[in-house]
Amino acid sequence: MFSKEDNERLCRVGPDTPMGNAFRSMWIPFLLPEELPAPDCPPVRVRLLGEDLIAFRDTNGQIGLLDRYCPHRLVDLFYGRNEECGLRCVYHGWKFDVSGAIVDMPAEPENTQMKCDTRIKSYPVLEWGGVIWAYMGDQQQMPPNPPEFEWGLVPADFRFITKRLQRTNYAQGVEGGIDSSHVGILHSRLDPDRAALPFRQRQLTPSPVTAPYLASDVAPKFFVRQTNYGMAIGARRNASESEYYWRVTQFMAPFYTMIVPLKEGRAYLGHAWVPIDDYNCWVFTMTWNSHEPLSQDELDRGAVHSEVMDDGSYKPIVSADSDYGINRAHQRLYSSTGIEGIGMQDTAVQESMGSIVDRSRENLGSGDAAIVAFRRVLLKLAQQFESTGQLDIAHHPEWYRVRSAAAILEHGVDFQSGTAAATRVL
Ligand code: FES
Ligand SMILES: [Fe+2]
Repeated sequence: MFSKEDNERLCRVGPDTPMGNAFRSMWIPFLLPEELPAPDCPPVRVRLLGEDLIAFRDTNGQIGLLDRYCPHRLVDLFYGRNEECGLRCVYHGWKFDVSGAIVDMPAEPENTQMKCDTRIKSYPVLEWGGVIWAYMGDQQQMPPNPPEFEWGLVPADFRFITKRLQRTNYAQGVEGGIDSSHVGILHSRLDPDRAALPFRQRQLTPSPVTAPYLASDVAPKFFVRQTNYGMAIGARRNASESEYYWRVTQFMAPFYTMIVPLKEGRAYLGHAWVPIDDYNCWVFTMTWNSHEPLSQDELDRGAVHSEVMDDGSYKPIVSADSDYGINRAHQRLYSSTGIEGIGMQDTAVQESMGSIVDRSRENLGSGDAAIVAFRRVLLKLAQQFESTGQLDIAHHPEWYRVRSAAAILEHGVDFQSGTAAATRVL
């Protein structure tokens, strides 16, 4: 059983929490470039790891990430004026550059010492791989690069990245992302002609290539292997007398997941579950090809994970307020949930647990092996940071050069070594 104390350690990410401190020692994706599209564009409110911040792109195109509140008398810098290489507070005109230095105090004497003595909290930012990253940890320990995910290494037209708000703790999102045993149930589509049959026999099969394996063995066995980046999860199904069909997915610390495309040859798919605070997270969905630009069809499939409002809030178009648009007639005939879209189906179940689920009340089964291992990996991460003041993964961006894979392997072949060539990004 997972204790309430461990649950607190796992979920709390604010300043001076064990997990929050560990996360702060890594680069964290938090904005899409489209949110700061041009020099001197409007600033953007940011809430990250429980801290209220403001992001702006200055006249030179550099990005600043500052405390949301002006250090003079704490006015919200969202109302600030983004002008000539700095963000100016509209109340008394204090102006800050991207490094957090104060470059102007018009209501103070020309040579005031205050200008040198006062700073605003600021965090380093970089743009890489189609997202904007922040580093909120100790300056002396700052890793030079973010993790080297394949989606970040490929050319821009090989990838598509979206984001949406989820009203849960990040860990609930990650647990949904690595929980392969829900895929064939929560996301299943049903054949109305087979309505009289038991649930399993009513499901539509997803693809001509994988269908025989997925259909012949609906309860795969899960194998979890800890790795330097987090863990590899092997889902094993019977394929023939002498072979298994394996699907290998990854959890990459501290909050990244990867899944196998439902159809062979399709684009890869991954998620980042970035903590806004203890009760909310950003779900970034990365869709990418390793060798060619994404097709329109692949772009459309990527988009279904994030159908959001077009007001810049990245809130999903349906939410708990409308019961995620559940259609009971559809639920009876066509799908498990009656809810449109894979992303919304995931969000509905994850948010329905409450924003921080009480893990001490769960009853975990054999399909939950990866969930148990994930919690262990993260608690170990917090422990490592507490005892050494740094994380190995933060300084090994190359550990993240892995991808998911599906393969047929002879009985007795280890799933990790059997798929090593397919899961490595060179
Ligand atoms: S409150 Fe910002 S300059 Fe006075
Ligand atoms: Fe799902």
